[in-house]
Parts: sequence; C-alpha cells; structure tokens
Amino acid sequence: MTLVLGIDSSTTATKAVLVDPEGRVIATASSSYGYETPQPMWSEQSPGLWWEGATDSIRRVLAESDTTAEDIEAVGLTGQMHGSVLLDRDGEVVRPAILWNDQRTGPECEEIRRRVGRERLIEITGNDALTGFTAPKLLWVQSHEPENWARVRHVLLPKDYVRLRLTGDYAVDVADGSGTILFDLEARTWSPEILQTLDVPAGLMPPTHEGPDITGTVDGDGAAATGLLAGTPVVAGGGDQSANAVGVGAVTPGVVALSLGTSGVVFASTEGASVDREGRVHAFCHAVPGRWHMMGVMLSAAGSLRWLRDAVAPQRSFEELVAAAAEVPAGSDGLIFLPYLTGERTPHPDPLARGAFVGLTVRHDLRHLTRAVMEGVAFGLRDGLDLMVDAGLAPPVQIRASGGGTRSGLWRQILAEVLGAEIAVVGTEEGAAYGAALLAAVGAGWFPTVDEAVGSIIEVEPVAGPSADTELYGEAHARFDALYPALAPTFHSS
Ligand code: XUL
Repeated sequence: MTLVLGIDSSTTATKAVLVDPEGRVIATASSSYGYETPQPMWSEQSPGLWWEGATDSIRRVLAESDTTAEDIEAVGLTGQMHGSVLLDRDGEVVRPAILWNDQRTGPECEEIRRRVGRERLIEITGNDALTGFTAPKLLWVQSHEPENWARVRHVLLPKDYVRLRLTGDYAVDVADGSGTILFDLEARTWSPEILQTLDVPAGLMPPTHEGPDITGTVDGDGAAATGLLAGTPVVAGGGDQSANAVGVGAVTPGVVALSLGTSGVVFASTEGASVDREGRVHAFCHAVPGRWHMMGVMLSAAGSLRWLRDAVAPQRSFEELVAAAAEVPAGSDGLIFLPYLTGERTPHPDPLARGAFVGLTVRHDLRHLTRAVMEGVAFGLRDGLDLMVDAGLAPPVQIRASGGGTRSGLWRQILAEVLGAEIAVVGTEEGAAYGAALLAAVGAGWFPTVDEAVGSIIEVEPVAGPSADTELYGEAHARFDALYPALAPTFHSS
C-alpha cells in the first residue's frame, strides 16, 4: 500500500489520518487533551500535549489499520494557528503557549499599532493587530515576563513544535507564518521592518516554506517515538484554516470554505495579496503556493449552540434541540441572538463584545432560542463575507461547509438563505488533517500541484440553496447589524 499521513494538532486533540492515492481515508485516530485558563480570558496549552497527542494518534492509526510505516510516503502537518511556542537554545519549552483564543493582549495590540503605525501594519502584513495573533503575545511576554523572554531562542507555531520533535528541524509554512503578523504578506516571508520595530530578533524565527515543500525527514528520535520510519519526508503543511480549505477543495477564487466548529470561519482564496485597507478581515498566505486568502473568524459559532445546550437544556441532545428549532418560523418570531460570547474578531475586533438575546417576549421558548442562536451565527458569518466582498472579492459561487455544526440540515439551510449561495459538502469530514495529507501527497509527487490533487480527489455534493426565506433573512440581518453598535457601550462598561 502507498499512503500519506496528515496530522492536525488542534486545541482539543491531535488527529492522524491515513489517505491513499485515490483520496480515500484508510484510517484515523485521535488523542484528546485540555487547555488551561489561568485567568479569565486567558488560554494556554503545554506544547508537550501536541507531541504526546501526535505520538499516540500516529501509533494508533498504524496499529488499528492494516498498514505499516513502510507504506507512508510523506507526512503533512497542520494545527491551530497563532499560538506562541517559545523555546530556549536547547529547544526546551520556556513557558506554555498562549493560544489563538486568548484575549489578554488588547494593550499590546495598541502598542503594535502605535509603534508600526496602523496603516503601515496593514500595508505590510495585510492585517490589523488582533489579540488572537502571535505578535501581541510576544510583546506580552517581553513586558510581563522579561526573564522568560530573555531565554527565548526560537519562536514556533503549534504544528511546527510537532515538526521539531518529529524531524529536529525548525521550520514554518507561509500560511501559518502570516498569521503571526510578523510577515510581509506580498513577499511571503518575515518582514525585517516589523520584526525590528517590535524588538523580535530575526534569528528567533524559523525558515519559511510553501505548503507542499518538504522541510525535512523523520529523524531517529521522531521514529522511535511514533513508529514512523526514519527518513520519511515531512512537508510544511499549513495552519488549520488553509489546510481545511485544501481539504474541501477551496483553493481557487469563487469557492469559499465555511467551517462551523467552536469558532466559525469564512475563507476565500485570492490570486494576489488582496487586503481590506481597514484590516477588518484577515489576509494571509494560502497553503497553495502563490495564492493568498481572506478570512473572517467568529469566535463562538457552534460554540454558541453548545453554550445554549449546556446552560439551558443540558439533558437534551443537539439533534433534539435542532429538530425542535425547525418547528418555529425563519426569523425566530423576531428574536435575535448576538453570538459574541467570548468576545469577537470578525467583524468586530473586540475582546469585550458580549452575547445577547434581543427581542424576547413571552411567546418565545427554547425552540426560538435555539433557532435564534443558529441564525445569529449565520448573520455573523455573513458579516465576514460581506467585508470580503467589500474588499474586492467576487461574491461566492459555492460555499463548501465543514465542521460539526454543518451536519445539521437546518443550519445548512439557514446558511444558504443568509449567505445567499449554494452550500455544498465534500466526501470526507477530516477537514484540516485531510488537507495536510493532500499537501503531503503533492510533496510526495503523487500530483504536480495542489489544484490537480484537489481536482482529481475531492467529491462535492450540493446540500442546500437559497429559497423563499432569503429576503426575510435580509431584513433580520439588517436588524442584527444594528445591535452591536447600540450595545457596545454597555459591553464596554460592564
Ligand atoms: C484562525 C484561528 C482559529 C484557530 C483554531 O485564525 O484562530 O481557526 O486556528 O484552531
């Protein structure tokens, strides 16, 4: 057998996926872990967890399938983006990584804008300074933990810590690298100007590579820990959003990837480094060589539905809740939900934004609350898409949906109405790990380009399209959009 292996180190688990040359998933294994919240709005994780998760899931995927390490031609890596992995001269972890969903760095974002100049920052990196990104985390450690910062000799991103332990190499791909906002978006590598202005020595940052490029091979220690063969090539891969886009075939303009997990993402490929001059949507390099993408990220998407279930109806399954929500009409009889439960990134980069139900009456019950949550999440995603169209993106032809939330037929239909586009799903649910495996397939020479890999492998099935409710949702969306500006003073004063 001939296979490639994709590894995804997410916030909650590391997953290993074996894929054959026809794109079939031969086996998967996943190893879960938690993360720490040392203070409200903080979020940290020990890099060792990703490596333990990787060794465990790789060993299990090999043991539980009818394959051996000899079958694996290449490995592709992906993982949660933006986390600050700080290592000393020996590659030992200096402090736990500060994660993408940590909200402590509002003052550091201000400081970055002040030092670089907001316009110049957007001109070089394509992005405004947001709490989720890596650069403000480095400034936070510089000023709050100078003794730790003094020991730092290497800065990596989460999946690249797995690469280090697997191959001994310090390296990053350009998609994940650009999510640090230490990147020159156009040049697809570190920006000397940004690094210097933020007092981050260039020598701390690893070499940069395009997604399918081979960055090294599994070394003796990596082989001993995982059961892989020493010498197996490892490709650069990509941050989880760009790898997921590869996994659903969203690699060319016109096809948008939408993911509905804890966070919610709309992701659109671009031929050039398209940027919103206001920095309201993210602009990063794609894992596809020579392409870029724009992206809107909402922090509590399916996470909002989970919150509702846990807070109000812990005894109900999601299926029960959603089935009941289908009984009430589109628009939830005037009830509107703002999904900013953990602050927000797109379209309101505001760690202090908060959730709200607005328009409650005695007629509303749990069914309305549930439907309003699903609709509010769709409105938030629509806001992200609108900003991209505002920044020059052509309206999408098709939206490829993935993530737990998109298993719901009702949610798919709401998304089609609110976003005004066809929603399609693909033949695999392995998302980013699958995309990383496809990047490995290109690196292994199975396909000459990512486009050809995606074109010959990904099967697409349309599952919902806009219909009669689109207009009604247009009006509800306008009411939704008026609420954040009206409520922001309350959010900021409480
Ligand atoms: C993307 C982002 C999240 C994390 C989650 O900008 O912050 O999607 O990568 O894993």
